[in-house]
Amino acid sequence: MVDDNHLQKAAEVIAGSERLVVFTGAGMSKESGVPTFRDALDGLWAQFDPMKLATPQAFRQNPKLVWDWYNYRCELLADKLPNPGHYAVAELEDLLPQVVVITQNIDGFHHEVGSTDVICLHGDLKRDKCFANCRGNPTYVDVTQLSAWDPESGPPFCPYCEEAYVRPDVVWFNESLPYHELTRATELSRQADVMLIIGTSGVVWPAAGLTVEAKQAGATLVEINPNPSEITPIAHYFLQGPSGEIMPHLVKRIRELLTR
Ligand code: APR
Repeated sequence: MVDDNHLQKAAEVIAGSERLVVFTGAGMSKESGVPTFRDALDGLWAQFDPMKLATPQAFRQNPKLVWDWYNYRCELLADKLPNPGHYAVAELEDLLPQVVVITQNIDGFHHEVGSTDVICLHGDLKRDKCFANCRGNPTYVDVTQLSAWDPESGPPFCPYCEEAYVRPDVVWFNESLPYHELTRATELSRQADVMLIIGTSGVVWPAAGLTVEAKQAGATLVEINPNPSEITPIAHYFLQGPSGEIMPHLVKRIRELLTR
């Protein structure tokens, strides 16, 4: 368990925040048993190179293969649940004036536990859109409403333009992050007085760059991770351990400080 003094200091910093950003990565969902992108390349899918499954080019070449891969990842997620770390993040909204979650995860767990302001930088595995964004970016499509479509046949055509395929609303390699989400996430990171960074290696840009933006703008960085990451050297507080364990203790301390 984390050093008590460290935990208390981090709780004091967060309890005093006016504009908290919580920046999360795959480690946030590790204790939920959510396989990371690379973990999911097992069994039948082990033979595939991610670059052949998660790029616009791959989708153009073989829409059914890519569509089936994301369906498989959805299946892997179907019996997974948010963990105490997600619930603790959501609880911060009851305690602090401003809490925004910026996540790299596509499992939708922050929304599921009630966090009300979540920026999904890499999209959402459970959401689909028109490949051509024919009605503006993004043109969401609810495939469960497409009665004439046979799910076994691969992706449906967009019901609006009837030309482009429907695709998963996730950011693929060689694609830029969604403009509005990244712009708002960058603004909020620059305005944050505290950034709580949970479960990210900090190796994937531009998402990881948000921590540098926050630091340069004067925010205090608090990191939770069982292992040192690329971000640890610039963090003011490093709480070493799993977020599902640490976050409930941290939020309990914050609540005690704010309800004295
Ligand atoms: N609690 C908190 N952090 C954990 C836990 C845990 N229980 N278990 C592991 N971690 C940490 C690891 O130490 C690592 O630093 O979570 C981090 C996961 O790193 P990555 O797998 O690189 O995930 P992430 O940083 O979110 O990657 C960013 O890369 O795979 C692509 O697009 C995908 O959004 C993803 C992006």
